[in-house]
Amino acid sequence: MVTASAPGKVILLGEHAVVFGQTAISVAVDLRLRCKVELSDKFSLNGQQHSLRGHPYLCGAIRSHWKGGPLSIFTDSDFPSGSGIGSSAAVTTSFLAAMRSMEGKAIEEEWVARSAFEIESLAQGRASPIDTSTSTHGKAVIIDGKKRENLLWHIKRDTREWYIHDCPVPQMTLVIGFTGISAPTGPLVAKVKRYADKNTFAREIIVEIGDISREGIACLKNNDMERLGRLMVRDHKLLAILGVSCNELDKFINAVLPYSYGAKLTGAGGGGSMIALTDRPEQVAEIIKNKGGTPFIVRTGVPGVKIED
Ligand code: MEV
Repeated sequence: MVTASAPGKVILLGEHAVVFGQTAISVAVDLRLRCKVELSDKFSLNGQQHSLRGHPYLCGAIRSHWKGGPLSIFTDSDFPSGSGIGSSAAVTTSFLAAMRSMEGKAIEEEWVARSAFEIESLAQGRASPIDTSTSTHGKAVIIDGKKRENLLWHIKRDTREWYIHDCPVPQMTLVIGFTGISAPTGPLVAKVKRYADKNTFAREIIVEIGDISREGIACLKNNDMERLGRLMVRDHKLLAILGVSCNELDKFINAVLPYSYGAKLTGAGGGGSMIALTDRPEQVAEIIKNKGGTPFIVRTGVPGVKIED
């Protein structure tokens, strides 16, 4: 029996634009998903017999990477699925790592990140490697269309390519506010693509989001939380113009802004979660709760996918 775990993530800057090859920054947080796997006589998920056909991530991982017999799979998570915190990526990377370990093989980060990206792309359509690479590597990653320092790996898909880098981040306290609305990523990514295909203004916004992320990298280097917060607010406004925010996200963001350096939606949007960068986390969490959301106070600087003892 093997248990692997992987972290959730928040995208500090650059979601959606990263799908088009623009720069983005994503940070792993101290909420983890654990996946326990053992050999069995039938496939099962969390104690229920399961063909796994309705679970594209587990099914995809088994199809591409498992040659052994049936498996019992148990998952448990510190964060909800569909919350924009990266549960699909975390289930995929932790399951891949557990299977690999059952075969007696070493867990190579690059192999997990590439394999998980393939599986997520098949399940979601037009994804970028941001979620799967952050879940694999942990800490924080910068994804860019160009090579920078601290390169981890490089992934190509159709005409797009992404260089994934390790990103040193200062210790930060973030508050996640889950709206309770579960929003699948695929349709939101497709919506932005349709908008960008027919509208120059949308394409300009995507480029501007990339510029904001590049400015954000400098803020992280200089530990400039005030400027980073202002960039988050600008980024959120642009994401809202792209049509991926919603009333609940805007309500939470507006309510916490007086107590935060900045706040924005995180992940695909359309529901899911927002984040606030703040040094008053308890106060911000209370506001989110009062507005009907579920707050998580999170810390950064956590490891990526790993085998649990
Ligand atoms: C989802 O966490 C981030 C998106 O940019 C999609 C992706 O990059 O695959 C919305």
